[in-house]
Parts: sequence; C-alpha cells; structure tokens
Amino acid sequence: MEKENKKYYVTTPIYYPSANFHIGHCYTTVIADSIARYKKLLGYDVYFLTGSDEHGLKIQKKALENGVTPQEYVDEIILNAKDLWKSLNINYDKFIRTTDSYHIETVQKIFKKLYDQGDIYKGEYKGLYCTPCESFWTETQLIDGKCPDCGRDVSEVSEEAYFFRLSKYQDRLVEYINSHPDFIQPVSRKNEMMNNFIKPGLEDLCVSRTSFSWGIPVTFDSKHVVYVWIDALSNYISALGYLSEDDSLFKKFWPADLHIVGKEIVRFHTIIWPCLLMALDLPLPKQIFGHGWLIINGGKISKSLGNYRDPREYVKEYGADAIRYYLLREVPFGSDGVFSEELLISRYNTDLANTIGNLLNRTLSMLTKYFNGVIEKTDANTDFDADLIELVTCTNKKANDYMDKLEIPEALDSILSIFRRCNKYIDETTPWILAKEGKNAELKNVLYNILESIRIGAILLSPFLPDTSKEILRQINTKETNYQTTNTFGLLENGISIADYKPIFMRIVKTDEK
Ligand code: ME8
Ligand code: MG
Repeated sequence: MEKENKKYYVTTPIYYPSANFHIGHCYTTVIADSIARYKKLLGYDVYFLTGSDEHGLKIQKKALENGVTPQEYVDEIILNAKDLWKSLNINYDKFIRTTDSYHIETVQKIFKKLYDQGDIYKGEYKGLYCTPCESFWTETQLIDGKCPDCGRDVSEVSEEAYFFRLSKYQDRLVEYINSHPDFIQPVSRKNEMMNNFIKPGLEDLCVSRTSFSWGIPVTFDSKHVVYVWIDALSNYISALGYLSEDDSLFKKFWPADLHIVGKEIVRFHTIIWPCLLMALDLPLPKQIFGHGWLIINGGKISKSLGNYRDPREYVKEYGADAIRYYLLREVPFGSDGVFSEELLISRYNTDLANTIGNLLNRTLSMLTKYFNGVIEKTDANTDFDADLIELVTCTNKKANDYMDKLEIPEALDSILSIFRRCNKYIDETTPWILAKEGKNAELKNVLYNILESIRIGAILLSPFLPDTSKEILRQINTKETNYQTTNTFGLLENGISIADYKPIFMRIVKTDEK
C-alpha cells in the first residue's frame, strides 16, 4: 500500500483588493507561508491558500470613482497583490479570487442548498451598516454612534432580504467550542467571542443585499446579491472544489487545520463560518487563530488611515528575509506589536547581521585562510564540543514543540540559539590561538563543528528565511539539506571545499547615526 502523507491545510484571510497594501497585511501572510513551509519541511502534504475578496459596495464605489468597471478595478489590483507576495517569497498553493467563476458557482449552490433545506429564508432587514468594513452592527455595539472597528459613520438600511438561521445553531456552536479547546486560539479570543457575542444570543443573519449589484447573484432571485461574508468565507471550501465536478482536493484537505485571521475578523470565523458549515453538514476547521495587529505610531496600520508605506519599498531596501524575520520574530503571535523601521534595523543588525551573517563570514574566512577552504573533520576534540553538539542536535525538537503551539517567535529564537552558541564556541576555542600554536587537527575540527552547526541551523531556518537558508547552504557547499538530518551531528561532508562566499547581511548604519 502506498504510504499516505499527513495532510495540512492552512489559510490566510482573503484580502480586500486595495491599491495600498501595507506591512500589516504581510504579517498574516508571512506567518501562514512560514507555517506552510515548515509543515512541508516536516514531510506533510500541505495546501496553503490565500486570495482576494473582491465583491461588495466598497469596491463598486471605488471602481466608479476611478471610472472603471469593478472587474477592471480589481484585476489591476490583484496583479499588484501577487507581485507583493512574490517579493516576499510567499509560496501559496492557490490564489483564489471571489470573482473566479468556480467560486461564484459554488457560492450560488451553497445559497440554494441552504434555502432549499430551510436554513435561509426571506424577510426584511432593518439595521446599521458600515460600508468600509462591510459589517452590520446593532445599536449597542456602536461606539459613540460610530462603527466600533473603524470609527466611521454607519448608515441605516432597510430592504427585503434573505436570512440565515444562525440562531438555530447557537447551542451546537457553544457545545462545540466548549468541547474543542483548540478551536479558537488564543484563549482570550475564545472568551471574548463567548461572552460578548455568542452567550448574549445569536440573531439570524442577513445574507443578501439588493442595494448594490457588485456581488454574487442569488440564482433564484436575481435582484439579490449574496452578503460578502458568506461569499468570502465560502472561499475556504470553494478553492478545494466543494460542490464542483472535481472535489478531490476538498475530500483530501477538508477540514482545514488552521485558519489564521486578524483579531477583528475572528467573530466572522468563529460564529458565522462554523454555523454555515454545520448547516452544510461539514466538519469544522480544527483551529482558528486570531492574531493581533501591527501598530504604527500608536494606531493600527491601515489603508483607510493612510499611515503606511508600500511593503515592497521595505523589501527593496532590506531584503525579503529581513522583513519576514521582523514579522515572525518581533511580535508574540496573538498579541499586538509595533512596527517601526528603527526596530526593524535593530533586529536586523543584532540577529541577522551579527549572530548569523558575521558568524558565517568569519568562519568561512578562517577556513579559507588556514585550510584553503577545505572542510575537514578530525578526531581532535575540544572540551567545548559536547555542549555545542548537545544544543545543536536538540534544537529541531525544541523548535517543533514551539511550532506545535504556534509560538513562532520562540521557535525562531530557539533556532537562533544555534548561531549564538557557535559564536560562544568561537570565544571558547579561540581558533586564532590554535592556529598560532600550530594545533591544526583541533583547528580543523573546531571549524568543522561550527560549519556543521550552521548547516543544521540553516535547514531549520528554511521555512522562515528561505533565501538566507539557501544561500548559507550554497556557501558551505553541502548536499546534506534534509530536515531528517537536523538531529544528527557530523553529516556535513568531510573533505568538501566551500563555495565562493560573501557576507549575507551587511550591518545597516543609518546616516544620522554615523
Ligand atoms: O478582513 N496588522 O480583509 P482585509 C495585522 N476580506 N494584520 C492586519 C493589519 C495590521 N495592521 N491590517 C490588516 C478582510 N490586517 C476580509 C477577510 S476572510 C474570509 C475575509 C489583516 O483586507 C487583517 O486582520 O481587511 C486580516 O486578517 C487581513 O489582514 C485581511 O484584511
Ligand atoms: Mg480589514
């Protein structure tokens, strides 16, 4: 029998098309990409989905302002988004657009199915709507009469509409959340959802609009378009071919292992989405993780607030891995965190330029100077080897334990500890003194041990800093790049010559500090 790999399905939210993507958007996507790459490295069969959420009144208005059709408007922006993901090395398996015809068909089938079985019914909607956020609010949820998410005006709408029987699923939802402690993470978000939204009682949800046309038409009542959140959430299954001719991916990957979402949309993912899935008689995703926001100058970075720079400018200036590293390392996953260029530079200098870059460069320089670039293992051990080897070979397990808990900064830091330990090992073994004293066998072994540690560290870094990892492994010229080799010390080939090398991260000195 063919051995079946373990499967892993991870998603980001699908983004509203915006000409102004900012570093906050990159946060979710870089994390999801690193998790996906990490699982792939471990040998999982991974499916990583991202995409764009293209319908709704907001887009229709923007297109009108720009004198183009909504489709033309979004087509242009999607090119931009894909270019951004490429610049950051985002390796998604699929990019779904809610304007893709297969998605539209699936949403229409879902809507019809729920209508036919009585979970969707026709009624009249009166309520408050925030257009920029595409969200309905009740009077009590408003803050000073404004949208609690963005602080702008809401407008009263009244129209004939279809409703989804959310209230019918309340008890099942509560029961599910209580019996699946991992379902909503971190726990603080679960408590917030339970206490603020679910326990006070779920009302049936308005799931169609007639006041604008840029949306997915309801097949049996064509003046209605499907509410954008029903449209958007369905992407997680339409992307896999749910209700389509070929649903093999759906059969293989559903239920999702992880939906990563920002904290302001946890509500949609932990209430509407599971109830919708229950109505469709489908299993629920294993986990919804609500992360915090990147904050800049005291506020959320936001395209509508205009306090952003195009992330591609940062990538150009510092490189993709420097940006990835900052996003992955700086903010405890789940909390809010600050983004600033000063912090980015300081992280870069300390961890990337000093701890990793400088270690690699000075080791390769010594090897070139003393042994003409040939890596050689001898049995002349030093007193410091055992401790180094112990730390290096235990790291994959340590990092893996952190990754299982989605403690990403901690996972990365444990990998960095390999490089820090090597720097200490250099201080302990003082290779330049070994050279002076002509202790060549020891010196060879010290340099071998450092490069072997770097090899293992570089493999473990690969999901997070793919370019850096590749470049390090190229410079030391090893073919032993498999994850399975990372808990065994001594696999770096004996007798190989290193490749040409150059510093991988140059220290950044801003002119005003000089
Ligand atoms: O919400 N820091 O799309 P979106 C961290 N289309 N994350 C941030 C952020 C910041 N400053 N700003 C935005 C939508 N994000 C819907 C999703 S899913 C079925 C539909 C994150 O473009 C935000 O939290 O407004 C969200 O997870 C993602 O970017 C997309 O936001
Ligand atoms: Mg948003």
